[in-house]
Amino acid sequence: MEHREHEQIARWERRWLALSGLMSLTFVLLIAYNLATEGAHIAQRSAKATPEQILQQQVFLEPGVRQLAPGKVQVTTVAQAFVFQPEVVRVPVGAEVEFFLTARDVLHGYQIERTNINVELIPGEISRLIYTFDEPGTYRISCNQYCGIGHHEMLGAVEVVPASQWNEATAAGAPPADADAMADAEGAVDGAQVYAANCASCHQADGGGLPGAFPPVAGHSARLVVEQGRDYLPLLMLYGLQGAIEVDGQSYAGVMPAWANLSDEELAAVTNYVVTEWDDGSLPADFAPYEPADFAAARGQELTADDVYERRTP
Ligand code: CUA
Repeated sequence: MEHREHEQIARWERRWLALSGLMSLTFVLLIAYNLATEGAHIAQRSAKATPEQILQQQVFLEPGVRQLAPGKVQVTTVAQAFVFQPEVVRVPVGAEVEFFLTARDVLHGYQIERTNINVELIPGEISRLIYTFDEPGTYRISCNQYCGIGHHEMLGAVEVVPASQWNEATAAGAPPADADAMADAEGAVDGAQVYAANCASCHQADGGGLPGAFPPVAGHSARLVVEQGRDYLPLLMLYGLQGAIEVDGQSYAGVMPAWANLSDEELAAVTNYVVTEWDDGSLPADFAPYEPADFAAARGQELTADDVYERRTP
């Protein structure tokens, strides 16, 4: 009796062993099948050194795209918080592309959409992989390893173009210049953009504010130039404001934070934007737009948000 029980257990044990053996075999076969049919781009760690040693190598001193031979290009990229250098690489369709990738500061990811490229970039290591893009188009690159506060903005692109349109000289760089980028290059900052990025969450996209919580800037800002004097807005922007105020019959007790972290150019652009965009006619006809120099001059007064409130005439 006891003997039979033992035998039964042994039989079940053998069945379980066989089943787990079969499962392991299935997994191995699945991986082998995937490698054979889909191919995998597992980065080869082709070098290991200190990050400084790697970054001193010629290919990484000038990251970009090089033609190694007809139909063969090399892409070198350095990832750092929070940008890929270069951001955009252009390669010819059908060419064999050899990627040399590394990270300057911390661990980053390098994933190219619609491909099976997904590697980690580790400071002190070079990740090398080879890929051929068969379809022209733009393939976004994203960092998929959390690397800090700007991680979600760490984006790049591979632009795959017909071989006849490709040349080495224009194969790497920043994203194609659009209107805003060109304005930036000329030193002009778009006040509307600064507003959207920093101010709209409280004062709202239409400048109307939120009754009881955030005062409107539409109309109100233009009146401030007249009522408080031209010097007031730069102080308000740089040092913030603390204290109860009344705008259009509504009371506000919120705090305007200081925006000294913005550049003088950004501050001038966004201040001009709020006073002119929604001016209800109170702005004097001879109003001269704020210059970055107005903000440079207002810095260094070391005021507090309370001082600005004192400075304000009710
Ligand atoms: Cu780099 Cu996330």
